[in-house]
Amino acid sequence: MLEKLLRSKIFIWTLLVLPGLWLAWPLFVTHRPALGADPLKFIYLHFGFVACVLLAIVLTFTPLRVLFPKSKLALALNRHRRLVGVASFAYALLHLTAYLLHEGGFRTLLHDAFEKPKLFILAGLATFTILLVLAVTSLHALVRWMGGKRWKNLHRLVYLAAALAAYHQIYARKLFPVQVLWIFGPLALLEVARILRQRSKARPA
Ligand code: HEM
Repeated sequence: MLEKLLRSKIFIWTLLVLPGLWLAWPLFVTHRPALGADPLKFIYLHFGFVACVLLAIVLTFTPLRVLFPKSKLALALNRHRRLVGVASFAYALLHLTAYLLHEGGFRTLLHDAFEKPKLFILAGLATFTILLVLAVTSLHALVRWMGGKRWKNLHRLVYLAAALAAYHQIYARKLFPVQVLWIFGPLALLEVARILRQRSKARPA
């Protein structure tokens, strides 16, 4: 049953759209939106959070497949790698757009990134650029044009994106937040387990 659900594109699409719809919910159920004193800021933080969560989730798919090669659930999840990766980029784009609206446009971004650089903004910009490149090169025609090996090498940048996103989130929250551990901790553990498994397989008996 769960496997069937996880194989379904419609189900995954619904899960991916829900965090966005959740923001609109208070607009319908109360007279005043319950998004705090600064709704636009609430919105851009929410989109950034969802982008990070989806990035961490999509990165767990491969280690899960390596660690549990016979699991139908792991196989079902791996069918949606591209969709979940692109959704992470889409939420990052919404985060950046709402940030630009809130902070007064590109002038603030250029100031914070290049004139008086703030490291966490540069990390956000670098993460965003990597996710953009990965989303664009996920188009079928470009995958074919690049060839499997080159495409795979380029897409390894996703690990750098995850590290930069974690750094960006830690500094955005100004103190080391438990939330970042919740998001990226399980992924780090799975990656360590995957590396150990692949090494033990590669070792001659
Ligand atoms: C040019 C690109 C980006 C800019 C300018 C930017 C800007 C910001 C700013 C200013 C904040 C902190 C707001 C505050 O608390 O005062 C923030 C928070 C955050 N950003 Fe970004 N960001 C960018 C890209 C990204 C990307 C690509 C991701 C994820 C993949 C991301 C995820 C987050 C998260 C998770 C937070 C913390 C949210 C929270 O406090 O719950 N950002 N961003």
